[in-house]
Amino acid sequence: MSTIKVHDKVFTIYLSNADIQERVRTIAETINKDYQGKKPLFIAILNGSFMFAADLFKHLTIATEITFIKLASYKGMKSTGNVITSIGLDAELYGKDLIIIEDIVDTGKTLYNFLPKLKDHQPASLKIAALLHKPDATKFPLTLDYVGFSIPDKFVIGYGLDYDGMGRNLKEIYQVV
Ligand code: IMP
Ligand code: MG
Repeated sequence: MSTIKVHDKVFTIYLSNADIQERVRTIAETINKDYQGKKPLFIAILNGSFMFAADLFKHLTIATEITFIKLASYKGMKSTGNVITSIGLDAELYGKDLIIIEDIVDTGKTLYNFLPKLKDHQPASLKIAALLHKPDATKFPLTLDYVGFSIPDKFVIGYGLDYDGMGRNLKEIYQVV
């Protein structure tokens, strides 16, 4: 089906599963080359990145590890900014080559606020792999090292991404009409 309804909104198919799989495989191959002889630790950000992380990981042939975290934002003591805390980040990060796996970078706020927390642990290196990027929506300066698809500033669901909890199980990525 090329059109679906989730809650109150209608979505049309935007990226087929074949397109996604092909792109994810290509990213994995690039990472295999870039990290030859290293042992990167992937940090997948839940919930949205679980499918991307699983498919990407299957194509990695280097020695590698993965851990999963949740990010929760709350207003800090200062009224100025949101503080991001990570849940489940119990791996030793010092001296490690870290690669963050994110489903989508929209404004960039989540990752921008989270990166300093990771850098505090003094990893050897830190890169970001995002399946989707909305460049027109990104307001926070971030360097994305691996990007699956640059997409327009329209809401998308599927392949792990949700609209109010629904749609994560779709094999394709759908765009709101
Ligand atoms: P950011 O902090 O604005 O970059 O966005 C952070 C999070 O918002 C992403 O990790 C997603 O979980 C969610 N998000 C942003 N855009 C979309 C979308 O189009 N569909 C589903 N979730 C989205
Ligand atoms: Mg997310």
